Amino acid sequence: MDLFEYQARDLFEKYGVPVLQGRIADTPEEAEAAAAAIGGTVVVKAQVKTGGRGKAGGVKVAHSPAEAKEKAEQILGLDIKGHVVKRVMIAQGAQIDREFYFSVLLDRSNRTFLSLCSVEGGMEIEQLAVERPEALARIPVSAVSGIDKSKAVEIAQAAKFPAELVDAVADVFVKLYDVFKSEDATLVEVNPLVLTKGGDIVALDGKVSFDDNAEFRHEREEMERDQLDPLEAKAKEMDLNYVKLDGEVGIIGNGAGLVMSTLDVVAYAGERHGGVKPANFLDIGGGASAEVMAAGLDVILNDPQVRSVFVNVFGGITACDAVANGIVGALNTLGDRATKPLVVRLDGNNVEKGREILAQFNHPLVSLAETMDGGADKAAELANK
Ligand SMILES: Nc1ncnc2c1ncn2[C@@H]1O[C@H](COP(=O)(O)OP(=O)(O)O)[C@@H](O)[C@H]1O
Ligand SMILES: [Mg+2]
Repeated sequence: MDLFEYQARDLFEKYGVPVLQGRIADTPEEAEAAAAAIGGTVVVKAQVKTGGRGKAGGVKVAHSPAEAKEKAEQILGLDIKGHVVKRVMIAQGAQIDREFYFSVLLDRSNRTFLSLCSVEGGMEIEQLAVERPEALARIPVSAVSGIDKSKAVEIAQAAKFPAELVDAVADVFVKLYDVFKSEDATLVEVNPLVLTKGGDIVALDGKVSFDDNAEFRHEREEMERDQLDPLEAKAKEMDLNYVKLDGEVGIIGNGAGLVMSTLDVVAYAGERHGGVKPANFLDIGGGASAEVMAAGLDVILNDPQVRSVFVNVFGGITACDAVANGIVGALNTLGDRATKPLVVRLDGNNVEKGREILAQFNHPLVSLAETMDGGADKAAELANK
């Protein structure tokens, strides 16, 4: 899981990393109120999970609440590298003297942790690494000893911090490593870490990625809810294995392997039908019941991008008649809310019974396909209408 900047800011604050006030806003009015609550000069910042927001017009200074409202109007809805801004953070404005860079991350290739640090912060680190590699210190960090004060001083000195700043930045590095370790992160990055005109060291931006394998060790329900697309959140609530994608053909299958190959077949068929693509991954699992099928269809049909649905099930533990009953139940429950055509391909255990149930149901939106390729082609064709 990757955090939004405002979530990273909140986390940093919890660990005593120096940050400035920040409040989130989903509308220009909320931005105005947030700026009034913070007072003084603020910075309106797009909350999207990509770097380079500043250059893309997603970070703007505002000197009054009215101006913050105006800037939020400009930033909300902006597309930054394919990410549409739905939320901004109103951050207290800093008087910046200098900008630095600090990160600690998992270095898989060397089987260790690694700290990257530079007194030339602000710009994108990939660019700095290419243009001025000598300006970027790379210090391996042992997972056993981590970053204690002496290691932090070593990092600051390797990055050529001025002697009078070493102690203060080293204290911040120790706290950032505490975040990294205690939260089971694979990345904690601060760019820029700044020296203010008042002489304080402050983290002005934050990027944090958690190790999903360690998720069970943490309570992060609220953070997760804020992360997820509303459809993904709903699917998660119903214990469905769902990932939203960018296309038009909704996909339901059983078993991750079958669903993956269904995505491939649909993408391939889509090339013949106006370039339509799969809209999601949804695996209803081996022992899927009628309720699970109904929940899955409910999620997919609520995706405004979906124009047709391909149900591709190989009956095993869950027999085809149970799946067919699930589809009937789901369409009855959804009633008028079901408006998109469904192509159903069933095979395996009790296939005859399953097909019979759907034939008798005779729903105008449902058509049966004999083969997986045929079903994919039909679904892609319907999505392109
Ligand atoms: N709270 C703030 N006060 C003053 N300037 C800021 C503040 N936050 C960001 N900036 C300025 O905007 C630049 C870009 O912001 P940043 O949060 O790093 O976004 P990104 O890395 O996505 O471009 C920073 O390098 C800094 O100069
Ligand atoms: Mg930044």
